[in-house]
Amino acid sequence: MSLKRFGVSLEEELLTDLDLIVENQRFPNRSRAIRFLVNDHKTRQSIAGNQQVTGAIVLVYDHRIARLHTEVANLQHEYHCMVLSSQHIHLDEKNCIETIAVRGTADKVIKLSNKLLAIKGIRHGNLVASSIE
Ligand code: NI
Repeated sequence: MSLKRFGVSLEEELLTDLDLIVENQRFPNRSRAIRFLVNDHKTRQSIAGNQQVTGAIVLVYDHRIARLHTEVANLQHEYHCMVLSSQHIHLDEKNCIETIAVRGTADKVIKLSNKLLAIKGIRHGNLVASSIE
């Protein structure tokens, strides 16, 4: 596949963000980072509706907020048919990371992910999912 060159105009703040992505994820240059971001976006957009997907929901939260463990667990019980496994790691004195492997229709996987990410106190999180059809 041949490469096409084009100019990109970005606000200074966005350019700083792009350069941080390049640095943090060790891309050799901005072009590679942009390629990755476009592909990532395409993959996210391509899952929809009744399509079967599999993926992982990753959550980072503060262990000291006791209700978070309960709320995260309750949602997994509610959606138990879709949850394949979950792994909880106590990162340090304060932080936990939970990785929940899921399989199901895209709309339900996205709904579960959105519900988990919307829990007040979840510091960071993301869904990574791909079509398995
Ligand atoms: Ni923990």
